[in-house]
Amino acid sequence: MNAVLKVENIGISFGSNDVLKSLSFELGENEVLGVIGPNGAGKTVMLNILTGILKPTKGSIIFQGKNITDRTITERCRMGFGRTFQVPRPFEKMTVFENVIVGGVYGDQLREKDAKRRALEVTEIIGLGDKKDWFAGKLGLLDRKRLEIARALASNPKVLLFDEVAGGLTESEVSDILGIVRMVKEQGVSVVWIEHVLKTMREGTDRVLCLAEGRNVICGLPDEVMESKEVHEVYLGAEEE
Ligand SMILES: Nc1ncnc2c1ncn2[C@@H]1O[C@H](COP(=O)(O)OP(=O)(O)OP(=O)(O)O)[C@@H](O)[C@H]1O
Ligand SMILES: [Mg+2]
Repeated sequence: MNAVLKVENIGISFGSNDVLKSLSFELGENEVLGVIGPNGAGKTVMLNILTGILKPTKGSIIFQGKNITDRTITERCRMGFGRTFQVPRPFEKMTVFENVIVGGVYGDQLREKDAKRRALEVTEIIGLGDKKDWFAGKLGLLDRKRLEIARALASNPKVLLFDEVAGGLTESEVSDILGIVRMVKEQGVSVVWIEHVLKTMREGTDRVLCLAEGRNVICGLPDEVMESKEVHEVYLGAEEE
């Protein structure tokens, strides 16, 4: 596999809480890697380490062959890391279009004219074209999730990190998200996608990683992982109880 991102033995503790003990995985070029695991397993913490918000106490992150463990959030963003937040955080008093422009200006250092052109394109393909002049604060949940993805896409990422973009949505909205992720992949982007909505992990990913007890428990083809004894022990079994 041609890896765009390699995570090697990362660990992090908050006081006596050893949230990640030793997590390792690789993300292939143009791959969608699903990440599942129990609440509090450290999935969002892992994302925050990847984007540089949190510093791991051990281990390395290699992006396109370069060790970026000590790079800042801004540097990583400009190198090609995009993300969404588990709870969408649009600039509520700005329009949808203006929110997306921010992604291009901040994340890809585009001049205003180019950022506007990119924002127009991205708002269209994400399905927010007819709401581009709405204040972001007026959007419903699905559209907020769309906007999160649009803003991240506007920074022209090589790797996109999704934190529960399908959480809290109806079944048909979840299908919309599956379509959007497929489209993102078609643009040549690699995706790390954290989700509890298992349908998305079965249908929308190339491989799935299960994170529990501070480490990578298993990683492989979606159906294999979902049906594995390991995942039932650390995650699905616990959910069923
Ligand atoms: N900044 C922080 N300071 C201290 N503890 C933190 C911090 N961020 C996360 N934690 C702790 O790390 C653990 C993992 O949290 P995290 O949010 O990564 O879980 P998660 O796997 O994303 O769970 P969920 O599926 O519920 O979103 C939790 O015990 C949490 O309280
Ligand atoms: Mg989380």
